[in-house]
Amino acid sequence: MDLKKLELLAEKVSEPLKNETGKIHAVSHFDADGICAGSIAYQALKALGKDFDIEFIKQLEEDELKRISLVEADLFLFTDLGSGQLDNIQRYLPGKTIVIADHHEPQGEEWDKLYHLNCHLAGIDGKDEVSGAGVTYILMKHLTKEICPYVYLTLVGAAGDVQKNNGEFKSVNNELLSEAVSLDAITIKKGLRLFGRSTRPIHMALRYSNEIDLPFSDDESKCIAFLSNLGIPIMKNNNDWVTLADLTDEQEKKLATAIILNSGITSNCNNIVGNVFIIPTKHELREFATMLNSCGRMGSSMEGLKLCLGMIDSIDHIQKKYKRKIATYLGFVKNKPEMLRTTENASYLVAGDAIEDNFIGTIISILANSYIDSKICFGLANSVNGIKVSGRADKSLEGKVNLKEIVSNAVEVTGGEGGGHSLASGAKLPPGVADAFIAEIEKQLSEIGPF
Ligand code: C5P
Ligand code: C5P
Ligand code: ZN
Repeated sequence: MDLKKLELLAEKVSEPLKNETGKIHAVSHFDADGICAGSIAYQALKALGKDFDIEFIKQLEEDELKRISLVEADLFLFTDLGSGQLDNIQRYLPGKTIVIADHHEPQGEEWDKLYHLNCHLAGIDGKDEVSGAGVTYILMKHLTKEICPYVYLTLVGAAGDVQKNNGEFKSVNNELLSEAVSLDAITIKKGLRLFGRSTRPIHMALRYSNEIDLPFSDDESKCIAFLSNLGIPIMKNNNDWVTLADLTDEQEKKLATAIILNSGITSNCNNIVGNVFIIPTKHELREFATMLNSCGRMGSSMEGLKLCLGMIDSIDHIQKKYKRKIATYLGFVKNKPEMLRTTENASYLVAGDAIEDNFIGTIISILANSYIDSKICFGLANSVNGIKVSGRADKSLEGKVNLKEIVSNAVEVTGGEGGGHSLASGAKLPPGVADAFIAEIEKQLSEIGPF
């Protein structure tokens, strides 16, 4: 890891932002990492008294760039996106000052008005060493220290982009974690790694956990009974559900022990118990990332930004609708098994209009972790003027499969645009090429698989 090199580059890339007196237009990705990156940029530009606005988008596709080229601004700032679309940025924003802070693998040539901060340029892998929010933080820290209290957002972004391995961070993420801990912006505690620490009733957290496999975990009433036997209440006096965050350390320990005993695990409990990272809002990183994701996918990214910057403290109304949508879409998949095609190499969820394009990535991630056995999964959903694709590969395929390359190769044949990381990539295809795309993916996977 060469953090010094990245910081030196950040100093250079921060210059045009420091000097800009005209209008700045900031563009960020609408997922959790992108919202964290955008929030850090927003806070920094505000502290610097810049004239700016910000928007969150699904993807920096050609059509988006055409639209953005009509925005009147002197400097365009891209965070958590941009590095994969250098050629199109140069083409559609000629003569403009461009600043990019991103962790996607750079694609295309640089030019003189481009100020490009990307971890890969310093030999740091954007897949799991630093998030888009992390790169944005490293850039903005050169301009103002007012963003330092928000350093924990870099790790929310990293958790949102699935950068933790065995529950732990590495490399630049780890450095940022130390910084966050020293500023009291993150508290590390040993505890249960159960998703939904402060947002799910414990019995539901047990029921729907990917990490914990209790013999009775598909039965809600048995989960409740399990907790009652341990003397753990499921409801508070005010009729709210009890969450893991409400338990005393002693209760949590007791629960952890009971879970380990009941899951029949004899070694490696790391997935169940380990370091849990708590941010100042009292949320655990991954659940906060999920809250932000729900804002983005529901078209309310600005609410996510406000949540990140403490301007609001709840997005319950958005999350409720989001959860309902996810449940509906998962229901569709279970009721229409013909949507799912499985080969010896991968599974393809061909959803057509049944699943909104904003949700196909989230749905395929959930299915890949639960319902689908294949180590490689793709989701395809109709979108405006084309098909949105999301691909996910299991962590065990690290170093064996590069989905970004596989998708990019397929797109060369079918038309469209693609990119991403080795284990998570995506694309936008022209209409009508779903079968051709799948055939192209199959051709490539057959050469290296089955997995
Ligand atoms: O554009 P960006 O890199 O921020 O998007 C990464 C997306 O891929 C995230 O939405 C994340 O949920 C997903 N992902 C995943 N599994 C991985 C890595 C990323 O589902 N191993
Ligand atoms: O949209 P999804 O979560 O599936 O994206 C997975 C990864 O693929 C992200 O890093 C995203 O930025 C990238 N992607 C891309 N081009 C697209 C769609 C997704 O580079 N058209
Ligand atoms: Zn990202």
